[in-house]
Amino acid sequence: MEPRGTWTAQSWQERTIKQQPSWPDLGALDSSLKQISTLPPLVFAGEARSLQAELAQVAAGNAFLLQAGDCAESFEEFSADNIREKLRVILQMAVVLTYSVGVPVVKVGRMAGQFAKPRSSDTEMVGDLEIPSFRGHIVNDATATEAARTPNPERLVQAYHQSASTLNLLRAFTKGGFADLNRVHSWTQEFVASSPEGERYDKLAREIDRALSFMRACGIETEDNSNLSEVDVFTSHEALILGYEEALTRRDSITGDWYDCSAHMLWIGERTRELDGAHVEFLRGVGNPIGCKVGPTMTGDELIELCEILNPSRIPGRLTLITRMGADNIEENLRPLLRAISDAGHPVVWACDPMHGNTYTAPSGRKTRHFDDIVREIGGFVRAHRAEGTWPGGIHVELTGENVTECLGGGDELVDADLNSRYETVCDPRLNARQGVDLAFRVAELIQDFT
Ligand code: PEP
Ligand code: CO
Repeated sequence: MEPRGTWTAQSWQERTIKQQPSWPDLGALDSSLKQISTLPPLVFAGEARSLQAELAQVAAGNAFLLQAGDCAESFEEFSADNIREKLRVILQMAVVLTYSVGVPVVKVGRMAGQFAKPRSSDTEMVGDLEIPSFRGHIVNDATATEAARTPNPERLVQAYHQSASTLNLLRAFTKGGFADLNRVHSWTQEFVASSPEGERYDKLAREIDRALSFMRACGIETEDNSNLSEVDVFTSHEALILGYEEALTRRDSITGDWYDCSAHMLWIGERTRELDGAHVEFLRGVGNPIGCKVGPTMTGDELIELCEILNPSRIPGRLTLITRMGADNIEENLRPLLRAISDAGHPVVWACDPMHGNTYTAPSGRKTRHFDDIVREIGGFVRAHRAEGTWPGGIHVELTGENVTECLGGGDELVDADLNSRYETVCDPRLNARQGVDLAFRVAELIQDFT
């Protein structure tokens, strides 16, 4: 491998960069980025280190990672209710997994900053007109007009402020009583309660209530116990628009290390993971725990090189490899990669993104995914780990707390004709709350006998 130069928060600018918007006014871009660089960090380095320590437990096979949230957060679909419902389904899924698998669940939201989207093409044809592609609300608006799609750097600042509000609410919900395990019953939403997975959840919640009563009868305080009444939900997003990430990269006063303070964890997408590219260069130098998507074209040698660049000191919890192969390929593609990484001795977290390799366009023209394919990909992921003696460390999924109709199948057996009723995503199709809870039960069944 070529020796790399010294890392700085700007060294990515020397590299080839993909998936960036063509900002029409570079002066305006510069002034937005300057403004962001003067604003307070969204997260603290110490919190990122706590997440890394928890992820080290995942890497060691003692904990499970649940990373979940929107494909793309929206400037329009932004409300306290929306954030609370998303958090609620993440907490429900975490309870199902913790109780059924018997290991701590590390909770990381695709939240409070997941605004930027890579696209397969820079432009899109609308009739005879060629307009820029939608790149997420941090860049432009989804409406298919030239004006709406023109990248607007003021959106970078708006994304910062929306992230700050979302994070503020997340902190309040997770520390202020909403996430109290003594209230595990009250998390059930109406449309989930009336369903088979709702009943299954209700049964599990009753068991937890009984266990808590038992603890109280034994003299253990459960009401004022922060282990039960508070949770940590960390934030994460794809570090795609590197100007924005650089503007939020700050030196930690305690360690002197650089942290990207836009989120606790950042990941590199499947389309921007070239070893000599700008995204790998930028993330190799920040102290946060980082992730990288691993698609079907990845080879063992390339993956080892990637691990050497991103985690040369082999710090457990530093690097999460998020596989997204497609249900048909996962088992066969993953096994050689697991072997290569084990043989090389890299202490990675392996997480399964069962969404992005299983997306297709339904006859109605809607982009969708089938719940069964999602379960099937996780099944293949778990089987590959079983065969290689490694730990299937977690899942990475796109979901919302709303009762949307974007993914097919699940308890409601949604079919193509149902997709129109509530198809609200600004990007990829998400699981709804029922499908999310159902998935947690399925995953718990798949990995139960590992522990
Ligand atoms: C995503 O996670 O929304 C995404 C674009 O994934 P990938 O980079 O794996 O295609
Ligand atoms: Co997506």
